Amino acid sequence: MTEQLIALLREHLGSFVSGEQLSRELGCSRTAVWKQIRHLKERGYEFESAPRKGYRLLKTPERLDANAIVSKRKAKLLGRSVKLYDEIDSTQNAALELVRTGAPEGTLVIAEQQTSGRGRMGRPWHSPHGKGIWMSLILKPEIPLAYTPQLTLLVAVALSRAIKYETGASAGIKWPNDLLIGGRKVSGILLETHAEGERLQHLVAGVGISVNLAQQDFPEELHSRATSLLIETGKVTDREALICAFLEQMEELYVLYHKEGFAPIRTLWEALSVTLNRPVRVNVGSNWTEGIAEGIDELGALVVRLENGERAKLFSGEVELR
Ligand code: BTN
Repeated sequence: MTEQLIALLREHLGSFVSGEQLSRELGCSRTAVWKQIRHLKERGYEFESAPRKGYRLLKTPERLDANAIVSKRKAKLLGRSVKLYDEIDSTQNAALELVRTGAPEGTLVIAEQQTSGRGRMGRPWHSPHGKGIWMSLILKPEIPLAYTPQLTLLVAVALSRAIKYETGASAGIKWPNDLLIGGRKVSGILLETHAEGERLQHLVAGVGISVNLAQQDFPEELHSRATSLLIETGKVTDREALICAFLEQMEELYVLYHKEGFAPIRTLWEALSVTLNRPVRVNVGSNWTEGIAEGIDELGALVVRLENGERAKLFSGEVELR
């Protein structure tokens, strides 16, 4: 019904359509029409409404276009197939399902909105309609499972570089893969893997970027911790261009990783890190311990010098900058 309503209003672009006509043509009550209009406003559509005249469509939000992404991208392998959903529970679920049914490496799943977007540690990921980039990329690197943290760091570097290239904003990486601007999180990465024995079969790299969200688009409890590219740069970012820039950066680093291993990625990650050489609070097992983040080891684990002088290696977990 939402799509039919948009089509109807588009047919009469520039002129009013009465609530009565809309309810007749859509076969529903005027209250139902009014509820749909309210729903569309939340999705970025703008209307003028006037008593007795009805509604006039003024502006439609920018929508992503899968074909445009496939043809605009410069990457060759990544993004050669793009599946776009208007609304889905989680692009991770869709990508995991696709890979189970044989989708090739480089397949990208994007959604305008996620109803159950998930973050690390089972946290929810706020994914409102049309304002962010919520995407999952299928990769099939032939590496041992133990090397997976390296890929996490690789994705974070690609993302930070793409944001810089497209918007000019500098996003620092908080280990392992949070992107921060001014101490607040603008983007998060979630890697989900499937292995057989010690070998990785495939992984799905889930990336969430808060692109064009205004402060009021975040729930109150996130205001102190989350930000968006719009808030930081004051400009609306072209989401398709940013997706293409990410695919390009990702492909460049992925090829480099296959040729030269993790060492060059590690150097790039260290240069973008906001964690290294900083006092941090880390959860080791079920305890929080304080120490100095010293570096990244050859597998991608964070090395922390604890207060008692011992070193802890973290492969996953939570780090708080002090
Ligand atoms: C985190 O920082 O905790 C990771 C957030 C990852 C969010 C992205 S949005 C696209 C993909 N689909 C999901 O459900 N999660 C990831």
